Amino acid sequence: MAATILKGKPVAEKIREDLAQKAAELAKKVGRPPGLAAILVGEDPASQVYVSMKHKACQEAGFHSELIQLEESIPQEELLKKIRELNRQTTVDGILVQLPLPKHLNEEVVLEAVAPEKDVDGFHPQNQGKLLLGLEGFVPATPKGVMRMLSEAGVALKGKHAVVVGRSNIVGKPLALLLLREDATVTICHSKTKKLEEITRQADVLVAAVGKAGLITEKHVKDGAVVIDVGTTREKGRLRGDVDFDSVVKIASLLTPVPGGVGPMTIALLLENTFWAYQKRNGLQAGTNENSIRQG
Ligand code: GUN
Repeated sequence: MAATILKGKPVAEKIREDLAQKAAELAKKVGRPPGLAAILVGEDPASQVYVSMKHKACQEAGFHSELIQLEESIPQEELLKKIRELNRQTTVDGILVQLPLPKHLNEEVVLEAVAPEKDVDGFHPQNQGKLLLGLEGFVPATPKGVMRMLSEAGVALKGKHAVVVGRSNIVGKPLALLLLREDATVTICHSKTKKLEEITRQADVLVAAVGKAGLITEKHVKDGAVVIDVGTTREKGRLRGDVDFDSVVKIASLLTPVPGGVGPMTIALLLENTFWAYQKRNGLQAGTNENSIRQG
């Protein structure tokens, strides 16, 4: 039987609508809306698209949004100075630096300059460390989006074998920790993994987050598995996922499409993280979400 297609767009829209409503209510109390500053260095076309989507989503939700575009050749010290300014700016609750950065900039140093309480991407070592330890902190938006899609679809994770293909700091590693937090048995595969299909075929839940178009085919998937495709590769102007949709759709029980799957969730959860930062910074009761669940 063909898989049910798990779309992120309707879930993401609902999250954004709820946030817009809550932000409008709280702005009356606080005297200002939540604020996000997005920094884009250089002119990478894909990054330009992503950052402008984030900026637009903020505006639609009634958030204060600053889009800071900096020259490709900006010296590192100048970028750090800008980040420190935003760290102090009271109207800004969240700061993100779009990745990748130009080669002359040290990503580690730049990400560490963002104040941890404004690090809505969850890329600061302090937030990554908190995630590892199961402490309250910012959870990166894409893995958080994957978890929210799984819970919205009613996928039980306890005792299930979850296989994550990809070990990036942005997706693979944090996602593995979140799945572990839900009591899944987790395996991480990567470019040096031998006999990939032997491992992926054991997955009840298979997540592909590599960035290699069509890597996962029917031979990698167990009958009835839940398959989540996080990959996005632009090929001839078309966005392709890591999963070969046409073959895997025949085998999986649930499958996310590209585009329209995990992608829209990333933006919605970035806004949710910004709203969470706003609540925390204003001493307001912040609701429970993936950021605040502690590991038992
Ligand atoms: N580059 C690719 N994904 C992301 C993301 O989620 N946040 C930022 N800041 N840069 C990215």
